Amino acid sequence: MYKDGVAALPECEQYVFRVHKLSQPRTVRDQPLLLSPDITKMPANEILSDAKRWTHHASRYQEIIGKSTRHGSKRTVELVHKASPITKDSHVLDVGAGAGSLTIEVKNQCPAASVLATDISTGMLEQIEHLHLSSVTTKQADAVGLAGIKDGKFTHVVSSFAIQFTSNCMNTVESMYRVLIPGGVAGIAIWGTNMDPEAINNAAAKRLNPEYKPVSPLMPGSWSDEKMHAAAMERAGFRDVTTESVRMPFAFDDATGFTDYWFANNNPVPTKFLNHWMEQGGDREELKREVEAIVRCDYGNGADLCLIGVIGVGRK
Ligand SMILES: C[S@@+](CC[C@H](N)C(=O)[O-])C[C@H]1O[C@@H](n2cnc3c(N)ncnc32)[C@H](O)[C@@H]1O
Repeated sequence: MYKDGVAALPECEQYVFRVHKLSQPRTVRDQPLLLSPDITKMPANEILSDAKRWTHHASRYQEIIGKSTRHGSKRTVELVHKASPITKDSHVLDVGAGAGSLTIEVKNQCPAASVLATDISTGMLEQIEHLHLSSVTTKQADAVGLAGIKDGKFTHVVSSFAIQFTSNCMNTVESMYRVLIPGGVAGIAIWGTNMDPEAINNAAAKRLNPEYKPVSPLMPGSWSDEKMHAAAMERAGFRDVTTESVRMPFAFDDATGFTDYWFANNNPVPTKFLNHWMEQGGDREELKREVEAIVRCDYGNGADLCLIGVIGVGRK
């Protein structure tokens, strides 16, 4: 199922993974969300970078997807630190920080480093604020343009699994270059190709409807493979660019755990797939049964499920 050359990462034993669940209230900016009907009914073609969609999912993100992406976040920080050590004098920008996977890893690497965690979703940033990490501040910012963030301000800029959801992936990489100091280092992790959940969803849909046309969860103009990632970073101005793919195992108990996540979680990605299926006349419960059967039979009842991350590192 996996691409050649994808390395397995060791379990991150010392990883500090603190999840703080928020109940109510959210910020004023996100209030309309609480009044919105069912996010699963939103049209599939709506822009995934919608802050409200991510906010809606924020309190559950880290306990599910975060357990998989932490492998990629940990490796990203290791590679960035190798290229340019993160020290007490470092100023690190985390772009599309989510619930803080990379920010936590940076603080694990060097507790005294200062981090500015940015995201378009205030609900995600609240997850980071509740960690009460020293020298970590948050700011709502669109990764496209990084408006309000001055040129040449950071020694390191990192981002994991966020840029492909922005409305302009290339501009996001250019903005990350802009805010680095000369000689500063960026580490940008993106979703790779051949993702298990996408393959399973599409296989199940095809079994039920051979005419089914798949949809991409990522924004038009984004990329997913190592070569394109390196080329984009070089086009933005980065030099000494290296890339690496990583396997990021999931931590579901069984096939039912995965289907519960996929069908009842409101993560914007599965939501896009499910809306697309239903827009083509598909039945949600039928798809759920088929997905669960595939995971049980072909993915070790959930034990073999994983995501793929592609990490690019470059210097300004
Ligand atoms: C899949 S999550 C990744 C979060 C985190 N970096 C991680 O690795 O766990 C994608 C994140 O990108 C954020 N995002 C989406 N579009 C964005 C944009 N235009 N600007 C900034 N953040 C954005 C979402 O709010 C969400 O927190």
